[in-house]
Amino acid sequence: METIYNIELCDLNELEENTALGFAADVTKTDVDIFIVKKNNFVYGYINSCPHTGAPLEWMPNQFLSLDTKSIQCSLHGARFSISEGKCLYGPCNGQSLTTVRLLIKDNKIYWEKKASENSEPLTETT
Ligand code: FES
Repeated sequence: METIYNIELCDLNELEENTALGFAADVTKTDVDIFIVKKNNFVYGYINSCPHTGAPLEWMPNQFLSLDTKSIQCSLHGARFSISEGKCLYGPCNGQSLTTVRLLIKDNKIYWEKKASENSEPLTETT
């Protein structure tokens, strides 16, 4: 059976509608940076790596969205990704997608439901 680690990210109310929050690997004690986005009251999570070059997407801390907040935008060459699926809609990686991370919302907190087989194991288990 696959081991799942629930890594606490933040309180649900810390993530406002049409905004994103990034979590560095040293914060989640994993080997990848991730970010989460709230849109239409849903929360989506992705690994912070553009499929074009592997670069991080944000242009400033927690700035992952386009100015109109309708898409995720890569700061390097401007690729746009759908918030709900992570598919590249425009740009040099058209047709590729961001890698999703599975989220769990429980007791008003947002967790990353990370499988042990995804990259390396986190250093701490939170549940
Ligand atoms: S690195 Fe993201 S579009 Fe080129």
